[in-house]
Amino acid sequence: MRILLTGGAGYIGSHTAVELIGRGHEVVVVDNLVNSHPEAVRRVERITGRAIAFHKGDCADPAFLDGVFAEHRIDAVVHFAGLKAVGESTAQPLRYYRNNLDALLTLCEVMDARGVRRLVFSSSATVYGDPAAVPITEEMPLSVTNPYGATKLFGERVLTDLAEADPEWRITLLRYFNPIGAHASGLIGEDPDDVPNNLFPYISKVAAGRLPKLRVFGDDYDTPDGTGVRDYLHVVDLALGHSAAIDRIDDRSGLRVYNLGTGQGTSVLEAVRAFERASGREVPHEVAARRPGDIATCYADPAAANRDLDWKAARTVADACADAWRWQSANPGGYRG
Ligand code: NAD
Ligand code: WQD
Repeated sequence: MRILLTGGAGYIGSHTAVELIGRGHEVVVVDNLVNSHPEAVRRVERITGRAIAFHKGDCADPAFLDGVFAEHRIDAVVHFAGLKAVGESTAQPLRYYRNNLDALLTLCEVMDARGVRRLVFSSSATVYGDPAAVPITEEMPLSVTNPYGATKLFGERVLTDLAEADPEWRITLLRYFNPIGAHASGLIGEDPDDVPNNLFPYISKVAAGRLPKLRVFGDDYDTPDGTGVRDYLHVVDLALGHSAAIDRIDDRSGLRVYNLGTGQGTSVLEAVRAFERASGREVPHEVAARRPGDIATCYADPAAANRDLDWKAARTVADACADAWRWQSANPGGYRG
């Protein structure tokens, strides 16, 4: 298939491009580069040995997007494009709602007009809010605690209504748990612009000596060691989840929803120790106050994706640490050098 990746220059999009190309698909990338660098696309070309059509532009711009569909006969779309920083979304709610919802609505309108109705959507475990129980299954109640999460929940709702209105659509919602790691080549990885918000990129910068120490946000949660527990998923496994979803998108019409996670929880302190082992570096850390909005424990029940998509995360947190460290060491300044 020829697959359009919106946000394809970003962290998850670039890794997904590699895996889709590896399975014989052709990839077209659209990205406005608000949180990424065109070097990521060049690196994907280096890894795969294939040229990628890259269009710089905004998904909320209908004329631009329609031009991309006019130039390439697109079979399916994976919609990664969006802003994703939870804290920033609370400070700039209008920007988040405008960007994430406009991009999705415009994309769907252009796809509909062009008769392209196969879509995979990047959703998030954030739609489960503070889950009543773990592991989390897809049927559990949804709720959100910040504007970013609300854009994902609304996005899911838009696509649910669309699939209901027109049976021609084949839509898969993928709810990612916590993606970490990098491609084993060390050529692509997560490249936060600023001080990282997420745990693993922060640890990685501390290990590299670029940040002085990690603050562990709370050690008084109801978890085995008191620190927050999450389901950390290797980004290459996550990328393979997208290619599995694309492979099976025509199995049935309508909308499907899958958790993509490992089913295993890892605490903040376990994450620190795993990174120390993989890097051979110390990760200085101190306990700080809880971060507002954080929950104690979150991990997936990935049984539905195991069963229907024949997908299972194969890589460990240790593998992800080794790959993230290779990426960090080879690219201390990220793509910007
Ligand atoms: P990312 O920021 O690296 O990638 C998103 C890309 O979208 C960036 O390259 C950005 O420049 C681009 N973009 C944003 N708005 C755009 C617009 N209007 N038009 C065109 N391009 C636009 O983030 P990521 O981690 O690769 O996340 C990809 C998707 O997965 C996002 O939708 C995110 O919300 C979702 N997600 C991410 C995580 C995570 O922890 N990384 C977890 C769950 C869900
Ligand atoms: C993980 C754990 C922190 C940083 C976020 C979004 C979610 C999804 C994935 C997009 C928690 C602790 C962190 C630090 C710490 N994104 N921590 N010190 O919060 O589970 O999920 O990213 O959809 O929507 O909310 O991930 O990596 O920020 O935190 O102690 O400097 O690490 O308290 O327990 P989170 P995270």
